[in-house]
Amino acid sequence: MLTNFQLPEDIATLKVVVLTGAGISAESGLKTFRDNNGLWENHAVEAVATPEGFEQKPSLVYRFYNERRQQLLSPEVKPNAAHYALAKLEAKLADNLWIVTQNVDNLHQRAGSNNVLHMHGSLLSARCLQSQKNVETFSNIDGTSRCSCCQPSSKMRPDIVWFGEIPKHMERIESLLMEADLFVSIGTSGTVYPAAGFVNLANHYQVHSVELNLEPSEGVTRFAEKHYGSASRVVDEFVEQLLKGC
Ligand code: APR
Repeated sequence: MLTNFQLPEDIATLKVVVLTGAGISAESGLKTFRDNNGLWENHAVEAVATPEGFEQKPSLVYRFYNERRQQLLSPEVKPNAAHYALAKLEAKLADNLWIVTQNVDNLHQRAGSNNVLHMHGSLLSARCLQSQKNVETFSNIDGTSRCSCCQPSSKMRPDIVWFGEIPKHMERIESLLMEADLFVSIGTSGTVYPAAGFVNLANHYQVHSVELNLEPSEGVTRFAEKHYGSASRVVDEFVEQLLKGC
């Protein structure tokens, strides 16, 4: 499956960075962002995914993420074959595999992946507005929720990186990309930076780049290799081929 790329004799030494986007979770029942006239679950992105939206209508933003969290924790939402395939790859490559996800769900971890960096935050975390510390949360938060890290305690917000805010783990991601042999981008439209620019970094550091998506992304021409289809099929096939050494 891999073209113009020589796999090492011992596959466990292969260093891989995987970038995932909403497309990998689509078959798990979570909607992608750009398939609904620019609306995310019927809301304008500016209303629910910007600091200005939060300032103007905090109650709407709290409710929106509470609903997303409840949906994520509902029994219908489960990891799919693509998440499991990546966990299987981690079982072989251990710390040579890192998943950088734009997703705020926990489906990679539920499939068994440990090496996951959430660059856009997490639905299962709340952030103190004063100290910026995170705390795991499985329940609703609202304007009355208070932290336990400050004295007096402060308000909390969803631990989501909104438009105009700086994504998390950027230094770590860049150093992982510098050292990688393979960069695989899965289920992302390639429209939101800095994630959309990781393929440029990979090319700069001569890391072999692969796109696995339902359709060509915005960055399609920058990938050395591409395979299209649903994530549950394409990612599973890709990982199987990799583990077979071809
Ligand atoms: N299998 C594989 N790919 C799929 C599937 C599927 N079953 N279903 C959809 N896709 C693809 C779409 O074709 C699209 O290219 O997944 C991509 C999803 O793109 P977006 O909705 O733009 O999601 P993403 O790229 O993750 O968005 C990036 O934008 O709104 C912000 O912060 C938010 O993290 C998000 C960021």
